Amino acid sequence: MNQKQRIFFWSITAALGGFLFGFDTAVISGVEQSLESLWQLDVWEHGLTVSIALIGTVIGSMLGGIPAQRLGRKKTLFWIAVLYLISSIGTALAVNWEMFLIFRFLGGLGVGASSVAAPMYITEISPAKSRGRLVALFQFNIVLGILVAYLSNYLLAEFMTNESWRWMLGVQAFPSIIFLVAVLNIPESPRWLLLAKGQTAQAREVLQLIDPETAEETFIAIQKHVDQPQTTKLFSGSYSTPIMLAVLFAVFNQVSGINAIIYYAPRIFEMTGLGKNSALLSSTGVGVVNLVFTMISLNLIDRYGRKTLMKIGSVGLIITLALVARAFYAQDFSGLTVPLLLFVYIAFFAFSQGAVIWVFISEIFPNEVRASGQALGSFTHWIMAAIITFTFPYLAERFGGGNTFLFFTIMMVLQLLFVLRLMPETKGTSLEQIERTFISH
Ligand code: GLC
Repeated sequence: MNQKQRIFFWSITAALGGFLFGFDTAVISGVEQSLESLWQLDVWEHGLTVSIALIGTVIGSMLGGIPAQRLGRKKTLFWIAVLYLISSIGTALAVNWEMFLIFRFLGGLGVGASSVAAPMYITEISPAKSRGRLVALFQFNIVLGILVAYLSNYLLAEFMTNESWRWMLGVQAFPSIIFLVAVLNIPESPRWLLLAKGQTAQAREVLQLIDPETAEETFIAIQKHVDQPQTTKLFSGSYSTPIMLAVLFAVFNQVSGINAIIYYAPRIFEMTGLGKNSALLSSTGVGVVNLVFTMISLNLIDRYGRKTLMKIGSVGLIITLALVARAFYAQDFSGLTVPLLLFVYIAFFAFSQGAVIWVFISEIFPNEVRASGQALGSFTHWIMAAIITFTFPYLAERFGGGNTFLFFTIMMVLQLLFVLRLMPETKGTSLEQIERTFISH
């Protein structure tokens, strides 16, 4: 393997954690109804069945920084693969509802922790010039996982017996095993080796594999930290700029309404008069558009920068959301206007927030606090995801679709202001340089 292929292999391996993240979060939509009738669940129990994994993600992201810092990035990824494997086998074989909940929760922990460890690992092994593209592979895998789960559910439902739901969950064991085996073949992050372990020789070796030309220069830049110890406490005051950037970015990611649309797409399509089958097909369409635009963005992120993608994306999101709100106010669901608008909306999201979030959060924190900083950003993302997912049906019912989409529109106007006024451009800059620009020591 040459240098480029090697780094790609390491990155795609970590990014498989994202494939399982996407699959795990989407697969439940195909099984919840079977479980409801199998175990005679009431409304509350049904709700918990769907959301238990989301509770796991909040906790997994909150705690994911701890093993990443103590055990290392690679070992954390390994344990995440184990969690995914146990969760898929355990949920597939569940003999009662309680057992199902426990194993589903473990999967959620894996999803949350993967959103901390995987982007961080890729950021730390990437050459500056291709970092955006490589970390965005994580999002690409999430979106691919969502799509594969929809398709796998769809195909398995064709052979619908009472037990198909077990297969829908159980097939996840295959990518989990691939992830687990592949992780054993990647190196540890050189930045972690040097700063957390003081293993200079091993760190140098990995840096050489990444890029022999810049290895020594990068080594010296990282080493500087060892000579001038910085505080490793995230909330010491020195890191208020990256904290503010990560938290706001993660909040904006979710108040765009993305998961309201991803999770409730079939229902929104049905509301606009589409039949059940075409509604299901449109959700697959949402998955495809998401994948295609993530891919386009991944190819532009290092050339035009994170900020450019975010500017274009924010404007697109504002316009499409405002038009959806208008359709609801006017009760104008004729033709394909709303489904088409949602497709365009997904395209703009994938092109901007979708691809940029993990890249941006993982690169703005200095080496010594990246694990806890990334955990804070991911945690904010998951708690907001939970809030929006839980409240969307209520909000839409209580305040109407028009007002709910107007709220998302206003949030995206604020996001645009954030991008224009506060967001720094980080493309092509080494992690150690980024850090120098906005950390007050
Ligand atoms: C991003 C979001 C996630 C969402 C996905 C959809 O990864 O973080 O919440 O489901 O995009 O593409």
